[in-house]
Amino acid sequence: MASIDICSKQELTTILERFKPQRDNLLPILNEINKKFGYISPVAMMEIAEYLDIPVAEIHGVISFYHFLSTEKKGKYIIRLCKTISCEMAGKEKIARMLEKELGIKFGETTSDGMFSLEYTNCIGMCDHGPAMLVNEKVYAKLTPEKVIEIVDELKKRGQL
Ligand code: FES
Repeated sequence: MASIDICSKQELTTILERFKPQRDNLLPILNEINKKFGYISPVAMMEIAEYLDIPVAEIHGVISFYHFLSTEKKGKYIIRLCKTISCEMAGKEKIARMLEKELGIKFGETTSDGMFSLEYTNCIGMCDHGPAMLVNEKVYAKLTPEKVIEIVDELKKRGQL
């Protein structure tokens, strides 16, 4: 994931130009930028505000409303463990502790190498197959502590490629 403050503004402009400069396009634009850079920087917010002719405060408001949008740079792999009742009852806590142990970070943190961010999320629709988590957009269900070790190992290997 490139950093938006390092990359040329050209990449940002390219994303913006794929959308008409209409307020309705704010969410899709934010999604695209978040996907591309891993977060929405102050520079990006100002560019969007100018392009859509809306206040930066409105953009802030939308970003803080949607859990999947962020103003902070996150890891290449964002792990979101479901914290809702079915997963809680299926053993979410053991999975949470194993993720923290394997990654060496707490929930809400990002590893110093920028590879992993660890977060909780609400139900991801896998209630009958809990505990469940997302790694970016991929779902992992019926998790066990052993499975967590395998998944994290695999991601670490992939991240080194
Ligand atoms: S409660 Fe965890 S996926 Fe629904």
